Amino acid sequence: MSTEEKFKKIIEKGYASTGESIVLGAAMLDDKVITNSLVKIPLKTLNRHGLIAGATGTGKTKTLQIMAEHLSESGVPVLLMDVKGDLSGLAQASNGHPKIDERHQKIGIPFKPKSFPVEILTISEQDGTRLRATVSEFGPTLLSRILDLTDVQSGIVAILFQYCDDQKLPLLDLKDFKKILQFATKEGKSEIEDKYGRVSTASTGAILRKIVALEQQDGDLFFGERSFEVNDLTRIDDEGRGIISVLRLTDIQDKPSLFSTFMLQLLAEIYNTFPEQGDGDRPELLLFIDEAHLVFENASKELLNQIESIVKLIRSKGIGLFFVTQNPKDIPTDVLAQLGLKIQHALRAFTAKDRKAIKLASENYPESEFYDTAQVLTELGIGEALVSALSEKGIPTPLAKTMLRAPMSRMDILSQIELENLIKSSKIAPKYNEQIDRDSAYEILNRKIEESEVVVAEKGTKKQTSRKSTRMNPILKVVTSATFIRGVFGILNKVMKK
Ligand SMILES: Nc1ncnc2c1ncn2[C@@H]1O[C@H](COP(=O)(O)OP(=O)(O)OP(=O)(O)O)[C@@H](O)[C@H]1O
Ligand SMILES: [Mg+2]
Repeated sequence: MSTEEKFKKIIEKGYASTGESIVLGAAMLDDKVITNSLVKIPLKTLNRHGLIAGATGTGKTKTLQIMAEHLSESGVPVLLMDVKGDLSGLAQASNGHPKIDERHQKIGIPFKPKSFPVEILTISEQDGTRLRATVSEFGPTLLSRILDLTDVQSGIVAILFQYCDDQKLPLLDLKDFKKILQFATKEGKSEIEDKYGRVSTASTGAILRKIVALEQQDGDLFFGERSFEVNDLTRIDDEGRGIISVLRLTDIQDKPSLFSTFMLQLLAEIYNTFPEQGDGDRPELLLFIDEAHLVFENASKELLNQIESIVKLIRSKGIGLFFVTQNPKDIPTDVLAQLGLKIQHALRAFTAKDRKAIKLASENYPESEFYDTAQVLTELGIGEALVSALSEKGIPTPLAKTMLRAPMSRMDILSQIELENLIKSSKIAPKYNEQIDRDSAYEILNRKIEESEVVVAEKGTKKQTSRKSTRMNPILKVVTSATFIRGVFGILNKVMKK
């Protein structure tokens, strides 16, 4: 048997699957593409997470695009963290190119241009469906972690959350939280300290400064209503295709703290919302984080620990996480060890240090009698990668140098008009982009302060205070929980729209 025949047999056997799978491309021996020796990834294994790595311009983002397309076609919804803003093209079919046809001829699959169902999301004031969370939903622990507070300061945050909960003061945005911080050191100091313990002015001052820093990174844009329901990430269109949610993050590239805040809250929310699945036949949702080094850079030890444990736990909810980054070294070792699929594009060896890193990277791949892995890593062409996956049985597949297929959708971005039309056609944008400014801690505390001042000034003159108190939303006096308040407002809104 020739080496090529032997190679073909090994690939065929190693990548055979009985269930549904997605095809990445065809295996290569030296520089030759072995037509129809397809490198397939079983859907069943995609909750085992993955890595797409490689030097700049080697094809990582296009690989992400290819995977998103085939997942959508298979009815699996996808969320893409579009840090560079180069993924909107998924909504339009490719114009094709002779080079693409040539690529596909070698692989042995005909090229079919197609567009995909895309939802554009944003956490800032860019065009798109707004993704927001309330401060209450964030919770005291996560808020303290994001602000990098000391134990004493975190204790105060916990007290203030408790006070607001007891007093039915909804904490929606950062404005609400700043108000309660100020209230706790002035008008409300004795009331709060009597019931909950000491609140030092030095600590509240320090917390306030950290919040201001977060606001300077535009962190305030993310907090507020209407908060995003993560179930809207798992929609399927009328043709049974998974919706591809493209979250545009172009304006937070230089704001790592905002990026990690947001990532962690989203992961925690997904984790808390999705039911336990075990290992099903297909994932519920796949999440791709492009430029993933941003999540880990400058992240505190606490944050890293939390990310690590979410990566471990979220699998059983049927969620797969894919990290896309230049060098596998960008990902903490504990996270790296959790990743079942590795798609490694070319690495560049400019210096002795680079060569050492490549040697190390090559040792993370299964041994292959067909390749000198370290050498292949530096020689891969654009749109080629070394693939190492898990078979349906969870066994590592043979290492395959792969000629990747081309995206069926446009590799370039949408024009402004195309983007606007896409956003206009969104079914969920009207729900999330509506301006809501309901009574929350800020307004309620301001009234409370005003009222007590009036009482002091007029010594019991009833007229003024009763006029003011009628302005307070009567529902707030009756209901007992923040969730209930949210529910009631949701219903009222729906009724009013009808
Ligand atoms: N699978 C593919 N089929 C056809 N062309 C490809 C493929 N992958 C990459 N290319 C070509 O290579 C270019 C660069 O790819 P891509 O943007 O994915 O690189 P990248 O690794 O994400 O780079 P960066 O690190 O700068 O973000 C693409 O614009 C495209 O022309
Ligand atoms: Mg890229």
